[in-house]
Parts: sequence; C-alpha cells; structure tokens
Amino acid sequence: MKIGILQFRPQLKEVDKNLATINKYLTRKKFDLAVLPELATTGYNFVSRRELAEVTESRSGQSFVFFENLAVKTGGAIVWGMAEKSRNKIYNSAVLTTPEGDHHLYRKTHLFYREKNIFDPGNTGFNVFEWRRVKLGLMICFDWIFPEAARTLALGGSQIICHPANLVMSFCQDSMITRSLENGLFTATANRVGLEKNGRQSYTFTGLSQVTEPKGNRLLRFSRTEQAFKVVKINPKLADTKKVNRLNSLFDDRRPGFYRLKSGRVA
Ligand code: ACM
Repeated sequence: MKIGILQFRPQLKEVDKNLATINKYLTRKKFDLAVLPELATTGYNFVSRRELAEVTESRSGQSFVFFENLAVKTGGAIVWGMAEKSRNKIYNSAVLTTPEGDHHLYRKTHLFYREKNIFDPGNTGFNVFEWRRVKLGLMICFDWIFPEAARTLALGGSQIICHPANLVMSFCQDSMITRSLENGLFTATANRVGLEKNGRQSYTFTGLSQVTEPKGNRLLRFSRTEQAFKVVKINPKLADTKKVNRLNSLFDDRRPGFYRLKSGRVA
C-alpha cells in the first residue's frame, strides 16, 4: 500500500486556493491513501467563531464534492481536515473520503488552546474504518498528548492511525514513535508549515510530518519548512501482530484491572 503525506501551507480562509494546491500535489504521484493536515481547506488561525463560520461546510459543501472527485480521479482514499458545520455546532473534523464515494467523519475530541473558544468539542468518539481490507483510525493533532486516543484506535483494530495536524509544540513527532511502539501500528502525521498571522494572534507550525511503523522507525520524514507530497510503501499487515517477543504481547499482557488505584485513592 502506498501512503502519501501532504505537508504544505494552507492559506487562511482561502478555500478555493487551498483546494487548487491540494489538487496540484495529489495528482502528481500515485497513492492508495493520502493524509493531509488539520484544517487543510481553511487554515487554522481564526480569531473568532464568527470569522470561522465564514468558511465552515456541511456534508454537502464544496470540499466534500472536491475530495469525492479527487478520490475518483486518483483512485486513492484521502484523509483531510476541515471546519464542519452541523446545525449550530462547528467541529474541527477529519474526513476519510474514498474513491467509492464514502465520507467517514471524525470530530476532534481534545481541542487545543484557543480552539476551545471557536469550536465545539467532537462528539464522534474514536472509530476505525475499514477500506479495502485496511483498518484506518483517525485522530487530530492535539489528540496525540492523550495516549488513550491512539490506544482506543489500536484496540479497535486500527493498522494505521491517520493523524492530520497543525502542530505548534515540539514533542508530538517524537511521541508518535511511542504511540507506534506501544500499540504496534503505523502512524501517519501530516503537519503544516509556515507562520500564520491574524491580527495580534500568530502561530508558527513545526512541519516534520512523518510516517512511523510498528517497531518505532520513521519511514518518511519532512523538514520543518518544505512543502511536498511524499509517498512511501507499507505493509499494513505488519500491524496485526502485537508480539514483543516469544512471551510478551502488547495486548494480551495488558492488565486493565490494575489501571486504576486499587483503593480508589492514595494510600
Ligand atoms: C493542535 O491541536 N492543533 C495543536
């Protein structure tokens, strides 16, 4: 399976331009599964919910139609980040769009910093979607700091965690090696690059997008600044064994009964 990561610099509120950029990169190289950054269609640095509301889309929005067509044209499934409007809620969402025309949605569970002022917390929970016999889990950016997110996807059978991101802290990329190791699966973190200013609010994004494999090695790594679409070949089945050695298994050796204080409080 060929897995591709797009690292680029989305422009704030410029959905048409961002879709054109995405189209340019994803039609240049063959892939089976592409992962794009968080909020790839809209940019990230909104100062108010009202401003964010200008670029939200429902499931019938232009980006859904665009990615459905792009998935058909390229023959690959695409995970992309967007600002989703549903009734009076706005979610920071990731969508898995397949060439068969399906859209599977994940709404970000753990909102980061000022996102709390403009988005509603996700209500989908973590789900694993099977596409052409590969089991894909979705989480978004700051979900990385809660190991329960990746663990839930792993216990649900996920072979690859697709991880759209707009990272500003330094530790995620290294931590995703641990998420791979402790869960015995692949992770694909698609981060963005660039400085995004909006009034007095600015963020610098850290790049370093990557693909990690179940033994914790990086199979692909971008620089902090480059904009590119890179593809690497993986065998998702390598995520099916949870053996550490002849006697240990990541899953069979878990002892959930002990994963809380025995007395319920400090002795
Ligand atoms: C983040 O969750 N965008 C840091």
